[in-house]
Amino acid sequence: LHVAVLMGGWANERPVSLMSGEGVAKALEERGHKVTRIDMDRQVAARIAETAPDVVFNALHGVPGEDGSVQGMLDLMGVPYTHSGLATSVIAIDKQLTKQALVPHGIPMPGGRIVKSEDLFERDPIARPYVLKPVNEGSSVGVAIVTDESNHGNPIARSAKGPWQDFPELLAEPYIKGREMTSAVVDFEDGPRALAVTELKPKSGFYDFDAKYTDGMTDHICPADIPDDIRDLCLEIALKAHKVLGCKGTSRTDFRWDEEQGEDGLFVLETNTQPGMTPLSLVPEQAKHSGIEYGELVETIIAAALR
Ligand code: DAL
Ligand code: MG
Repeated sequence: LHVAVLMGGWANERPVSLMSGEGVAKALEERGHKVTRIDMDRQVAARIAETAPDVVFNALHGVPGEDGSVQGMLDLMGVPYTHSGLATSVIAIDKQLTKQALVPHGIPMPGGRIVKSEDLFERDPIARPYVLKPVNEGSSVGVAIVTDESNHGNPIARSAKGPWQDFPELLAEPYIKGREMTSAVVDFEDGPRALAVTELKPKSGFYDFDAKYTDGMTDHICPADIPDDIRDLCLEIALKAHKVLGCKGTSRTDFRWDEEQGEDGLFVLETNTQPGMTPLSLVPEQAKHSGIEYGELVETIIAAALR
């Protein structure tokens, strides 16, 4: 096959996408495919038309590679591409829209509301502790946890660094204490399957950007050391989210679990339609645990795009 690997772009997650894209491109070359690496810029449509690949491997993260824009462009061009399509991407990139899609299907997610960042200097939008996050970023870009000790709500803390400086609106969600877990779903020839549950134990306590991409900063426990009923519930929910949202190729659903509350303490934070494919990423790790090497995973995702 001739595969154009689309990576980079101008999202905050550009460096992550370059790592994902390079991993994918190398694996495809090793498997004998012709690869064209395309760093996405505003001329990308012309570059793809010129390249005329059999398929585009979308290794972009964030906007506009994960929000439907690139998907719509490729739909118009009639070029097959990996991962989810336009409508799914539009919904899944937005953490609030995702809730509106998943909660009616019985998938537990924390309540939340959109707040204007400028209002955060007047009062807390919801009771502390809570989490502030941009609705459409990934890799924990712009996420802040507001606890009783934080003082950003005080007007004199206006200069304090936080996502309120970069994002005009933020999603405020109650902070769920407990454990951080994730489960990947992959589309195989006979249908989608949830692979495993991984628990993330960041040494700093917060699974932020650095903890995600610095080797040694987070312990990945796969399979997670959790009761069977919680594991099964995670796998079931991840698969259901994949299907309800209409994800394709692969998706990864992230959880928080307050173990004191048993099954009632399990919450979905979001479903990622363009999960990371870097050497430290979770989908490749869960695939490996399931006996699927990285290159085979890449081929499986491409096969789903061509079905
Ligand atoms: N947003 C990052 C790439 C992930 O979900 O893995
Ligand atoms: Mg994400």
